[in-house]
Amino acid sequence: MNKNQGSKKAVVLSGIQPSGHLTLGNYLGALKNWIALQEQYDCHYALVDLHTITARQDPKQLRERCYEFLALYIACGLDPSKNVLFVQSHVPAHARLAWVLNCYTMVGELNRMTQFKDKSQKNANNINAGLYDYPVLMAADILLYQTRFVPVGEDQKQHLELARDVALRFNKLYGDVFQVPEPMIPRVGARIMGLQDPTSKMSKSDGSEANALYLLDPLEVMDRKFRRAVTDSGAEVRYSEDKPGVANLMSILSAITGESFVAIEARFAGQGYGVFKAGVAEVVIETLRPVQARYREIREDEPGLHRILKDGAERAAARAAPVLRRVHEVLGFIPE
Ligand code: TRP
Repeated sequence: MNKNQGSKKAVVLSGIQPSGHLTLGNYLGALKNWIALQEQYDCHYALVDLHTITARQDPKQLRERCYEFLALYIACGLDPSKNVLFVQSHVPAHARLAWVLNCYTMVGELNRMTQFKDKSQKNANNINAGLYDYPVLMAADILLYQTRFVPVGEDQKQHLELARDVALRFNKLYGDVFQVPEPMIPRVGARIMGLQDPTSKMSKSDGSEANALYLLDPLEVMDRKFRRAVTDSGAEVRYSEDKPGVANLMSILSAITGESFVAIEARFAGQGYGVFKAGVAEVVIETLRPVQARYREIREDEPGLHRILKDGAERAAARAAPVLRRVHEVLGFIPE
């Protein structure tokens, strides 16, 4: 079978849980990278609502988040005509392939997943089967499109490794059915940490409001969050492992302006943390001001957003259909 389904560009796919609120970390660590990929690759981005219900969600909020995330992606520069943007539950092939892959994934493999162990500990009263099975659905998301590259953070590497193992196992039994995917880890420097706790990643579902900078925070709130950001003892703007607060702010600045750490150090030499933090705040605010304006315009047109999702789901389903058909065929199911 032609794994590229007639397309010359390599397939990229990633999934995002529509929970929490998108942060500056999501923008600099993932979104900016996706925007750079859109010319060169055949990109697919799924709002993985099926994954999201492995933890309890408020239905109204879940629906709102899907629209919010989509509108923000577009406002940031992700072009719906160049990327396939869709909601996972709109493409039934995801759940169908997940079932099949369940039968080719070992319980022992799932028992080793560190994210399952973490989430079970945090959610001891709701350790549901979906949470356990989460990595298999993720493997289905990826393998359904003959995906070559999967842009993910470090925390998803183990899940991706499982998707590779399942693909290899299936291929070994039935021939060359699946493309074996590879992780695409963003370049260093774009891993943004919390503003209050710079030793752990800025998270979109962080309990502490001040720790994360949300893309839709009012601009004056952003300014305040930066001014209150944790720095370190000393007064020098210098990049160093033992100054995680300053290093994080420098990473943010560098990711936006493209300046090197050396250049940033020189620019703020002898000026103290106050001036530095105000400088970072200004650059971030001026980057996000036009994004927020575009967001408001796009978000207002809900029928327009719905059309984008409908179109995305149709394109995704068309891409997925021959792969699922082939899977069913090699298993011996009667063709539909
Ligand atoms: N598990 C991923 C996360 O929490 C989300 C995800 C679901 C995903 N399906 C995917 C990521 C497929 C990459 C590819 O971040």
